[in-house]
Amino acid sequence: MKHRLFGLSCLICLLLFTCAQARTPNPIAGEQIFHAAGGCGCHTDVENGGPLLAGGRPLPTPFGVFYANNITPDPTTGIGSWSDEDFVRAMREGIGPEGQHYFPSFPYPAFSKMSEEDLLHLKDYLFSLPPIQQNNQPHELQFPFNLRLNAWFWNVLFHDAKPITPDPSRSASWNRGRYLTEAVAHCAECHTPRNQLGVLRSDLAYAGAKEGPEGKLTPNITPDKETGIGGWNQDDLVYALQTGMVPNGDFLGNLMGMAIEHYQELPDEDLEAIAEYILSLPPIVNQVREKKAKSTDDFDW
Ligand code: HEC
Repeated sequence: MKHRLFGLSCLICLLLFTCAQARTPNPIAGEQIFHAAGGCGCHTDVENGGPLLAGGRPLPTPFGVFYANNITPDPTTGIGSWSDEDFVRAMREGIGPEGQHYFPSFPYPAFSKMSEEDLLHLKDYLFSLPPIQQNNQPHELQFPFNLRLNAWFWNVLFHDAKPITPDPSRSASWNRGRYLTEAVAHCAECHTPRNQLGVLRSDLAYAGAKEGPEGKLTPNITPDKETGIGGWNQDDLVYALQTGMVPNGDFLGNLMGMAIEHYQELPDEDLEAIAEYILSLPPIVNQVREKKAKSTDDFDW
């Protein structure tokens, strides 16, 4: 009897062990993460009608032109042959499966703050999409930025991979908003200006950039009344993330317009959480837009 019991418990242990090893892919949970990440829009060459996530989208920067990679599950030209570990390492540490260092134009500093579970769900979703065979295009960078060694230096000097830990003194929705904003949606990667080494300027976090991604202006989204979005309330911001329409009736375009096509798929609570977090940021005075003449813009009826 004792022997049988022993045998049975060994079998249960073995089963539990195997279950813990094999991960069940969860592309449905991953789809939410994909939307929160703005649909990984930089990887689709929309302007030239390029296929979904197959790369090739040019991203001009002061350092030269980056071309986003093919992140479809094609095994030869995309990421189809990547293991879970390869994917997590790329997203967290900016290091590819062959040990190559990615340039920080790929916002791994933000993604490194994501939980492993969310990263794996995102991989599951990407792997559920159609594979597209399309070779990656080499970046066209100016010297000395073209040296991949620089990416290594950058990584060692400036990258600190640490998932976000909740702040117990804040509400659950604020913490959720912080996680989505700082990690998954990587809002700062576009809304924070960079120094000459391409490092985000923490003194101007979310305060807008005259030359943001694609050389275009990104507005100051800190709650400063004059130069940011201090005049907006939480509903205004949720509405803008859902519809692209801002309080003065304008519609957001460019990379933001593309991201909104995905943010609008998020549950209301997530958008409210993002808005709660953004509006709790310290207001920073940073005039990135041309000041409009008072008489025409602020017309009082
Ligand atoms: C890929 C780059 C990118 C990302 C990521 C991004 N934005 Fe933007 N955002 C922009 C650009 C570019 C504009 C300006 C669009 C325009 O003028 O049509 C903009 C505009 C805005 C505006 C309008 C501000 C105003 O004064 O009109 C808000 C608010 C905003 N973004 C919030 C966010 C939030 C919140 C996130 C993260 C959830 C985010 N953005 C992520 C690029 C980005």
